[in-house]
Formats: sequence, C-alpha cells, structure tokens
Amino acid sequence: MGSWCIHHASCMFRSSLAAKLPKMPSPKKADSRNHRSLLLINIGQLLTLRQPKEHRGPRRGRGLQELGILEDAAVLCADGKIVSVGKTREMLRDRGFKKNPGQVLEIDCQRQVVLPGFVDSHTHPAFIHPRLSDFEQRISGATYEEIAEAGGGIRSSVDAVRRASQPELREMILAGFRQMNEQGTTTIEAKSGYGLTVESELKSLAAIRDAAADWPGTVISTLLGAHVVPKEFQGRSSEYVGLVCTEMIPQAAKQKLAEFVDVFTDRGAFSLEDTERIFRAAEASGLGVRAHVGQMSATPLEPLLCFHPASFDHLDHVNEQDIGKLAGHNTIATLVPGANYFLGVEKFPPARQLIDAGVAVALATDYNPGSSPTPSMPFVLSLACTHMKMLPAEAIAAATINGAWALGLGNRKGSVEAGKDADLAVFEIQDYRELPYWFASSRCTFTVLNGLVLTDAGSSRWE
Ligand code: NIG
Ligand code: FE
Repeated sequence: MGSWCIHHASCMFRSSLAAKLPKMPSPKKADSRNHRSLLLINIGQLLTLRQPKEHRGPRRGRGLQELGILEDAAVLCADGKIVSVGKTREMLRDRGFKKNPGQVLEIDCQRQVVLPGFVDSHTHPAFIHPRLSDFEQRISGATYEEIAEAGGGIRSSVDAVRRASQPELREMILAGFRQMNEQGTTTIEAKSGYGLTVESELKSLAAIRDAAADWPGTVISTLLGAHVVPKEFQGRSSEYVGLVCTEMIPQAAKQKLAEFVDVFTDRGAFSLEDTERIFRAAEASGLGVRAHVGQMSATPLEPLLCFHPASFDHLDHVNEQDIGKLAGHNTIATLVPGANYFLGVEKFPPARQLIDAGVAVALATDYNPGSSPTPSMPFVLSLACTHMKMLPAEAIAAATINGAWALGLGNRKGSVEAGKDADLAVFEIQDYRELPYWFASSRCTFTVLNGLVLTDAGSSRWE
C-alpha cells in the first residue's frame, strides 16, 4: 500500500501531479505550522456551484443543474479557506504571488475536473463486521425485513459493537472515512446506532469523535439510538424510547457528542408517535433532528415537519401530498440509492417527481454493513443517473451543495467560492459528465480537506 501523504499549503515548492510531493509529519503539525497558500492551476473544468448571495439556500428544480463551470480555472486557498477563484492566467498574473512565489504551494491540475469535495450526509460507520450471512440470505431470496425478523439485520451488528473497545471502533470508523475520502468525499455525517445501550451509543459517538480528530476532513455526528428496539427490550419498545429520550439524548448533548438525533421511522422499527417523542427530547436538548423514512412503507411526514428536520432520508415510498409539503420546506430529501441497489429492490426513490415538484434533493452513500456497504459517492451518482433519471449535473449538486445544506453547512461547504472551506476533489476526467459515467471506477486523483492536500490515500496511517 502506498503512503498517505499530507501536504499543507505551507509547503514551499512548485509541483505537478506527476511530481512526488513531500511527506508531512502529521495533519496537526502541518496545520499549526503557518498560514501560507495553496494554488490549484490549469483546471480543465472547475465546478464552482457558485450562487449569488441573495439566492443562497438548497438547490431546487432547474437550480440543481447549475454547476457554475469555469474553464482554464484556478483556485487560491489560505488558512483552510478559499480565497479566490478565477482563470489560471489571471490568477498567475496576480502581483501577490510574484512578490512571494515561495509562499505558495502550486499544483498544476493538468486540465482535470475539480469540484467541491463531496458531502456524504448519511453514513453509519460505527460497526465492526460486514453482514455476509444477510448478503447470502438475500441472494437466496429472503428480504431485508424477513432477515431482520429472523434475528439478522441491524440487531446482528449489535453484539460486536457492545463488545468492542472505543479504540477498536475508532479504527473501523477511520478506515471508513479514508475509503470515502479516496472517492472524493471531504465532509461526512456519521451516525451511531449499533450499540443500542446508553453506554454503547455514547462509546460509538466518542469513537466517531476520536476518528474525526485523526482525519483532516469535517465530520458531523448523529445519535441513532433509535435504530431498532434491541432484543432485551422486545415487547417494551415504549420503555426503550423512554431510555433514548431521558438518557441517551441528554447525555450525548451534555458531552457534546452529537449534533443531530436520527430515528428509523418505519415498519419494524419506530412509529410516528415514537419519532415525535424522540424529536421533542432532541429539541429540548438543543440537538437537530433527521429521520430515516419511507424505506419500506410511506410514513406521513407532515406531523414531523414542525420539528424542522434537517433531512428525511430514503423516501422510496412517499405520499403525493407529502411531496408537495416538502417542497415548501428546507428539509432536504436525502436519497440513498446504494441501499436500493444492494438490497436488490426494484423500486428506487422517485427522484424526478421530487425534483420536478421543487423538493431539495441530496444524495448520500448510506455507508453501512447491512443495506449499503459502499463508501463511493461517484457510484451513488451513477445510480442516481441510471436508476433515478437524474442528470449528471443534478446528481453533482445533490452530492455537494445540497448535502451541505442537509448538515446545516450550506454557508461553509458544497461550493467553490471565496470564504468557503477549502474542500476540493480532483478527478482524472475531462468532462464532469464522466463522473457518473465511469461507474465503479476510481478516478479521484487527490482531495483538499480544510486546506490540506491528500494524495495516495491507501495507507492505514498518516506519514
Ligand atoms: O439506512 N434503515 C435503517 N438503517 C440503515 C440500514 C442499517 C443496517 O442494515 O445495518 C439504512 O439502510
Ligand atoms: Fe441509513
């Protein structure tokens, strides 16, 4: 395996992609060195996704197709932020660089495509084992729900997480973050949800925090204590919901371990009433809310909209009236077609209907051991195009700027504009439509995460 090289904007050299970039000691040391600049030049297509300030907000309808493409482009970053965006020739003419060229790490992108790093706004990385027996049972004809009822499914991931130490979980989570990053992801929402005791849910969240501290991208944590009712509470689901509301949520909030609370609201998991109870507790603790809805059956969404959920995720099944209601809210419809693909279900979320009605749609991997073990946003984009009839441009906006809005980060992430975080993904393609076209292909050359340049992300440790 290659080494995971980190290059901070403070490095003083000129390089091309072919050049060997110097190794940096560790992200923290690199971060604290100084505050010089990073300049990406000779970008074939830069997908800025810029938007006039007065129109800032989640993308809807035709707005989802506007990528703000700049050709022969350059991006200047400093202190982890984007400073300016323009044509390569103009940026190189800038007096500031001529005065002090050694202060700038300059990377020639050799006409590749550059876009805002993907914002994967729905992942479950806090698990220990892949669920290979579920996989084989589904191949032999059992459904996701049948497997769960027979004791497989989410509950079969729980024992190993309860037994695992926090450092063991951290390792697994970090490995997931690195694989996502190799595919161009720079911001990740990470859920707990395989512990299902107060102690194991808090341990999972603490492990997410520890992994995030060792990864230069951005991580947003979500408590998913209400993933399913654990075995020991069978027949006493209301008591379990009570535990989530009175212990898990207040403790996660007090220890600042989560920003959001999620609920799996569906057949075989939690009811609408349970979800309202949990959302009220989250609100009381000052946490944001989101929910898995409509994966197996349509749940009425209107009663939940008063909690201003950041997102409703899955939405394979959604009522017409709710589509109309959603269009009038900033709650993002996060579609996770990797789960449909992997579970082998024929029905995919009605992306076209949602987009055409004016709902703000995002795309995410739903990375998890049961329904969607993929870290790849480019693969999800491809599925969105082929199975949900989204245009490549719509899929890219859904995976960047709308993913950012789904995490409350729309003002910081998801577009390449001055003042935003320096999060970029560089792909070895010439036309942005190649991103979903070359499916199951890995063409991400390098990423920039909060100003740090990462290449060759195959190694398990920093160098
Ligand atoms: O989003 N549906 C609920 N949660 C996950 C699946 C988790 C699992 O099967 O382990 C999902 O698909
Ligand atoms: Fe999920």
